Amino acid sequence: MMAQNGYEVTGIDFVEAALEMARDRATAAEVSIAFEQADVCAYTPQESFDLVLDSGCLHSLSDKHKYRQNLLSWLRPGGQFVLVHFNKRHFFDWRPMGPSRRKQAQLEEFLGAEFQLKEYHEEIRKVPLPIGPSALISTYWFQRMPEA
Ligand SMILES: C[S@@+](CC[C@H](N)C(=O)[O-])C[C@H]1O[C@@H](n2cnc3c(N)ncnc32)[C@H](O)[C@@H]1O
Repeated sequence: MMAQNGYEVTGIDFVEAALEMARDRATAAEVSIAFEQADVCAYTPQESFDLVLDSGCLHSLSDKHKYRQNLLSWLRPGGQFVLVHFNKRHFFDWRPMGPSRRKQAQLEEFLGAEFQLKEYHEEIRKVPLPIGPSALISTYWFQRMPEA
């Protein structure tokens, strides 16, 4: 979607099968994307990015402090960070789902003063069993503070 809208896109995942699926989708959409097999806790690209989109990765990480440190090195000051994160399975679920369960306030605290929340959105989406049949998905749009 980003590439279809004119962005120059780099896509990373540490699982080759996931990259293969993404390559097939990029081919079907007739877009060019630079895919790299990398661990987000160790990824050190040559250049910084205007926008980082994390779709479903942070919620599975335990070493989130290394992730945050890397995020600051990936994202230029003033850049955008869009995070798609699992929320709850259903109304009566008492805490967010995922291996690392985080609520909005915890995510804001984790990112700290260098990031400002610009928009927040929730929607119910179908997700595969055994997690599903559906789950609440939270999307956060943060902006990294510009340098003073
Ligand atoms: C819930 S899936 C989301 C897949 C895809 N981004 C999407 O939105 O459909 C989580 C993905 O994060 C990847 N992942 C988990 N930990 C990772 C890490 N430390 N480094 C890179 N990728 C990771 C997994 O391999 C998996 O493909």
